Amino acid sequence: MPSSDLGLFLRQLLRDPTAISAMAPSSKGLARAITSALSPATGPVAEFGPGTGVFTRAILDRGVAPADLTLFELNPAFCTSLRQQFPGVRVINAGAQSVGDHCQGLGAIISGLPLLSFPADLCAAIFASAVQALRADGAIHQFTYGPKPPLPEHIRADLGLTVTPGPRIWLNLPPARVYTYRRG
Ligand SMILES: C[S@@+](CC[C@H](N)C(=O)[O-])C[C@H]1O[C@@H](n2cnc3c(N)ncnc32)[C@H](O)[C@@H]1O
Repeated sequence: MPSSDLGLFLRQLLRDPTAISAMAPSSKGLARAITSALSPATGPVAEFGPGTGVFTRAILDRGVAPADLTLFELNPAFCTSLRQQFPGVRVINAGAQSVGDHCQGLGAIISGLPLLSFPADLCAAIFASAVQALRADGAIHQFTYGPKPPLPEHIRADLGLTVTPGPRIWLNLPPARVYTYRRG
């Protein structure tokens, strides 16, 4: 990871610890795991909470075209850096809960949001909007450091989603797991 990315991340962490809720950007191993289902055939993709762009780079490395990728990032300093790093990618300085207003027919959503630090009503708003923006066969890939799926169970059931765990990524600090949510 470039040291400028780490410096930017740490400065934004000090400004808004709750929104960022991680001690460092995710590892390349976690970035490979959370993007493993993507290919040029996935079609339009959205990313939630890209931060310094570790997952964004991995999404593009999977062959997703820049024009097919939309990023939702609340932090304006991260948005400026993302626009410089990823020309041709749409960067929206707004909450992930607005994805349904901006995107339709998404094949996948990659989420780096710290769901465990969010109130349940915000999690519900984000996932309801995500379901609205997804194709019927689309999937939401969400990582967590916690021991179980990060979306509260009653919200998953209300939205009619199934959830599948991926392998634990031990080399991420802290170790993490990716969960995939799909329409039941
Ligand atoms: C834990 S950091 C993850 C950054 C990066 N994806 C990674 O894994 O290294 C969480 C990111 O989500 C952003 N964020 C927090 N709440 C958000 C929301 N409601 N919508 C979009 N981005 C949000 C923060 O600004 C931060 O960049």
